[in-house]
Amino acid sequence: MSNVWSTNVSFSNGELHLSGISATVLAKDFGTPTFFLDEDDFRNRAKTWGSALNGAFGADAGHVYYAGKAFLCVEVARWLAESGIGLDVCTGGELAVAVAAKFPVERIEVHGNNKSVAEINEAVRLGVGTIVADSLFEIERIANAAKAHGKKQRILLRLTPGIEAHTHESIATAHEDVKFGFSIASGSAWDAVLAVREHSEIELRGFHSHIGSQIFSMDAFDTAADRLIAFLARYRDEFKVELPELDLGGGYGISYLESDEALLPEVVLPSLHKAVQAACAKHNLKIPKVSIEPGRAIVGPTMFTLYEVGTTKKVVRESGEARNYISVDGGMSDNIRTSLYGAVYTAIIANRQSAAPTTSSRVVGKHCETGDIVISDIALAVDCVPGDLLAVPATGAYGRSMASNYNHVPRPPVVAVSKGKARVIVRRETEADLLGLDV
Ligand code: LLP
Repeated sequence: MSNVWSTNVSFSNGELHLSGISATVLAKDFGTPTFFLDEDDFRNRAKTWGSALNGAFGADAGHVYYAGKAFLCVEVARWLAESGIGLDVCTGGELAVAVAAKFPVERIEVHGNNKSVAEINEAVRLGVGTIVADSLFEIERIANAAKAHGKKQRILLRLTPGIEAHTHESIATAHEDVKFGFSIASGSAWDAVLAVREHSEIELRGFHSHIGSQIFSMDAFDTAADRLIAFLARYRDEFKVELPELDLGGGYGISYLESDEALLPEVVLPSLHKAVQAACAKHNLKIPKVSIEPGRAIVGPTMFTLYEVGTTKKVVRESGEARNYISVDGGMSDNIRTSLYGAVYTAIIANRQSAAPTTSSRVVGKHCETGDIVISDIALAVDCVPGDLLAVPATGAYGRSMASNYNHVPRPPVVAVSKGKARVIVRRETEADLLGLDV
């Protein structure tokens, strides 16, 4: 059974506490819904992934690039800067956050499948460490930007190794028929290599792949490494030079439920090292600098969402069984993952321990949509009433970052908690913020 709560969550007097502060006090001080972020856990996970990479691949490894899309704000970017790991941004907006945090530019990697001329220009102007090119158009844009700024830009090519990763279709990214990358099998990857070599302003450092997200087995990562390394060998055979870098992406699964076995850094990195070593030996290649891009695995487990129950309703289903609908004060605007991917979460009543029996329950939001479901089916105490606090663990990744203003609901704040102190790092939106865009 896995722990679905962040390291500094504890339970006493029937109540959830984060770093010693009770759910009741957190709700009173910051309101609901709110994302509570366990700062020490986050910093620790960032460092642990970094040291596991170096532990497996040595001091000369590449970078752990935290995938900012999972959750990014200026304060978190500062923590990442201090932790020594890198940052993967995939839009001009994410890059702007990195700049606002004074994130070391050489540790920034720029992703995206449709980087605009302006985004590429800005990245090159700033001097980002690497840009991962995803189309022939981008190769041209990078070359033009580098020429304009009198620079040589380091890049990786994003490749599609043709792998069916075992995860939801919308978050698998490396089978053939997807928008990402250059396919190895179809020959477009090799065409991209030839295109890059036309540009003296570009330094091709190596290849990248990201096979998908929330993956629980290392097999697909090993296969991806094997195929990318075979491609590195083809490059060496053709041009008599070994490219120095390989980036194997992110996607390591976390525990949303106690039954989920997370892929931990101490398992992932030795396994990747073994696969890389074997493939390099097969092709007589030096082991390249290997980078990875975990997002969810760093931030996911470090946050929980605290909601207040607003109404409950007993609904008798066609089967005759009753279901308790528990409506919370957020929903699909702060967690779209349930309706988008059928994601499964758990929850507890956080402000008290109930001795009442449990009943089949559905946690729903306040939006005008039947699909506005946070948890489709969960056994919760029958005496769950308006005013109770509900905590949903493991909402750190793709929760706040995919939040919307559907129904003009202001997006929740993020409150960082460390050593018994809580502080807002992203404030709650207000109705004034929402109205502020109307011209
Ligand atoms: N690298 C690249 C190039 C990516 O596209 C992604 C995620 C990552 C790294 C980080 O993957 P992670 O370690 O976080 O799994 N919204 C979906 C996930 C979409 C992932 C997009 N790319 C969800 O909520 O499950």
